[in-house]
Amino acid sequence: MREQDDPASCYALLARDAADQVAAYGGPLEGRTVVDVGGGSGYFTEEFRRRGAHAYLFEPDLAELGAKPPDGAVVADGYLLPLADGVADVTFSSNVLEHVADPPTFLSELVRVTRPDGLIYVSFTNWLSPWGGHEWAPWHYLGAERARARYRRRTGKDAKHRLGENLFAVHIGRTLRQVRERDDVTVVSARSRYWPFLAETVVKAPGLREFATWNLLLILRRCPP
Ligand SMILES: C[S@@+](CC[C@H](N)C(=O)[O-])C[C@H]1O[C@@H](n2cnc3c(N)ncnc32)[C@H](O)[C@@H]1O
Repeated sequence: MREQDDPASCYALLARDAADQVAAYGGPLEGRTVVDVGGGSGYFTEEFRRRGAHAYLFEPDLAELGAKPPDGAVVADGYLLPLADGVADVTFSSNVLEHVADPPTFLSELVRVTRPDGLIYVSFTNWLSPWGGHEWAPWHYLGAERARARYRRRTGKDAKHRLGENLFAVHIGRTLRQVRERDDVTVVSARSRYWPFLAETVVKAPGLREFATWNLLLILRRCPP
């Protein structure tokens, strides 16, 4: 709730939580190579480094990188990472999938740069989540353009996100089908990212999960060739 007025505390907390989740599924981060794709200004990369990982930030948008990105941050698009195959122990992407027009292709690139048996952490806010419309949520339930117009009326400024431009309607059921059909990853966990309980249970209920999960976290493991 305090993301707008205190982003630093909010994202530092989120980064600690995400790093705990990565460690819970993949073991200690010390010495691991972590690739953070679409990592914004680098809160997550910094947290992975604090835990001893060799973490690298790849972010296409200079404005998102901000004035003080982590050392060595690379301006790069997640569709085409300037990395060799299989270099990462952990490939990490937090809240990026709903901002790309072609999620399966984006996912393929994350898989490509992950080593066999390495972990892929992907989370996103799905469209029917109460937060699906981002800054114009929950009014997106009444239609994206209407919600955007309401945001402009209320705040006097244009919303950052526009459906079909930099925000896309990504659904949980479809995304789960897409990852389960792949033969290069196994799904270790499909769960709500933020729910402290019933996190995997809620994702098992078709229909309900689109509204109740809020944010889907997929932990994938790259299959050996
Ligand atoms: C909501 S922010 C998330 C930032 C950070 N990962 C977090 O969880 O706070 C979405 C990020 O996705 C990035 N992004 C959008 N399209 C991308 C792409 N094709 N490849 C990599 N990153 C992308 C944006 O620039 C932005 O930094």
